[in-house]
Amino acid sequence: MSKIIIIGAGPGGYVAAIRAAQLGAKVTVVEKSEVGGVCLNRGCIPTKTLVASAKVLENVKRSGEYGVEISGDVSYNLSMIMERKNKVINTLVKGIRGLFKGWGIELIEGRGKLAAPNKVTVNMSDNSVRELKADSIIIATGSRPADMPPFPFDGKTILSSDDALNLNSIPKSILIIGAGVIGCEFAFILKELGSEVTIVEMLPRAVSTEDEEISEILERELKKWRIKLILGTKVERIEKKLDGITAILENGMEVIAEKILVSIGRTCNTENLGLEEIGVVVGKRGEIIVNEKMETSVKGVYAIGDVVGGIMLAHVASKEGLVAAANASVGNEIIDYSVIPAAIFTMPEIGSVGLREHQAKEMGYEVNIGRFQFRGLGKAHAIGKISGMVKIISEKNTDRILGVHIIGPHASDIIHEAAVAMRLGAKARDLAHTIHAHPTLSEALMEAAEDVHGMAIHGMPRK
Ligand code: FAD
Ligand code: NAI
Repeated sequence: MSKIIIIGAGPGGYVAAIRAAQLGAKVTVVEKSEVGGVCLNRGCIPTKTLVASAKVLENVKRSGEYGVEISGDVSYNLSMIMERKNKVINTLVKGIRGLFKGWGIELIEGRGKLAAPNKVTVNMSDNSVRELKADSIIIATGSRPADMPPFPFDGKTILSSDDALNLNSIPKSILIIGAGVIGCEFAFILKELGSEVTIVEMLPRAVSTEDEEISEILERELKKWRIKLILGTKVERIEKKLDGITAILENGMEVIAEKILVSIGRTCNTENLGLEEIGVVVGKRGEIIVNEKMETSVKGVYAIGDVVGGIMLAHVASKEGLVAAANASVGNEIIDYSVIPAAIFTMPEIGSVGLREHQAKEMGYEVNIGRFQFRGLGKAHAIGKISGMVKIISEKNTDRILGVHIIGPHASDIIHEAAVAMRLGAKARDLAHTIHAHPTLSEALMEAAEDVHGMAIHGMPRK
């Protein structure tokens, strides 16, 4: 029976642990904080719990549109919202602890460090040190919010996403630096809860890793929500005042706000892990270098998740964890990044998979594009969510689907039909010919696939 130690119990580490145990290994997990990692405790789940509260509030405010009359003022109780969020986290943490028990995985609560390619030392909370030995080690220590050296986090005025998830009160106004995934998700949450939100982004568009048309639509939605987006500039300096800050931007504009949320990316947790001492190669951004088997430069030492500095998503960390677990025990697997769906929980949501239009063209593909607006769907009207569209990019010669991009209601869920289609090498025609139940939001995918060939039933003829 092979022995495996995993450092870090985020969605990379805990998934690797369960899979390694399923494959017959004896598994020990070392975690310095709480199982579930950033995703469960300070990332995916708490943000989506807050999004859920914000959406309820939005729906209640719009209840009149649905013929539902609510008398009296509509308000919210922030401490109850936070309590609900913490309850959700606790339930899921307990679930992972239960899974560890069920699969016979040992959890050691302390800070792990590599002492040799087969040895980990653990600093325990009582300052004692434990020494553990294994055949293989998987590093899954994740990442933390990147700060801006001139304006470091202080937890009071200059906030990280960790701080923003534990606010005691909603600031009257907030400046968000970075219109990436975190910045845009928080913008909608905070706006719905009553903050005046301004976002400053150095690039020319919001969510710049998405397809350009998706960014355009999101920018329109931000405008509708009266969230101010200032593109193509940076914060040059900040003047702290008693009741907040004034930020002076490189373009000369000034933004006055009570607080700042800095969301400009994440830094890999590779410090104080003993990596250099045992020869694990780390890249320029502090990321652990791995091959397609998730092996580091040292035999028997693997790394997965945010700490390898690739696509920083929970489900990518988990997939890398499955690969590393297999390779550290009985298997011989390689990671396949070709089809990775992603979701952004803005209002409306974004779902994407595969190539963006500009990427496909840069790669030399001749493409056909199909689009379908949600306003063309009965279901979208029935639920009162008609903003957004589905865009399908297919290869002109073969009709193979290269990418699918959705902004609209439940985009985070309906994107997976496209992911399965792409994984099976489907053509746009395959999606178009698949009968879709009516009335559903998924019909937008079928219509967009039909539009690839100019044949969407609920679309107008192309000019
Ligand atoms: P982490 O989740 O960072 O876990 C690493 C673990 O290692 C931590 O528990 C840490 O305490 C532990 N650790 C670190 N060093 C040591 C040590 N020396 N010894 C012992 N333990 C150690 N992704 C999505 O896919 N969907 C989302 O909706 C989403 N929302 C997000 C929202 C926010 C605000 C943030 C910040 C991130 C979000 N992410 C989301 C990204 C996602 O959280 C990460 O990609 C994911 O958590 C990475 O998993 P991981 O296992 O690599 O690392
Ligand atoms: P990000 O990389 O998504 O966005 C950072 C943004 O900040 C970029 O647009 C960048 O151009 C901008 N920026 C950088 N420096 C700047 C500066 N000095 N001034 C102005 N703008 C600046 O990073 P973010 O939002 O911090 O998220 C971190 C990671 O967490 C992402 O990689 C994402 O994958 C993950 N995440 C995923 C979510 C999801 O899947 N729904 C939700 C939240 C986070």
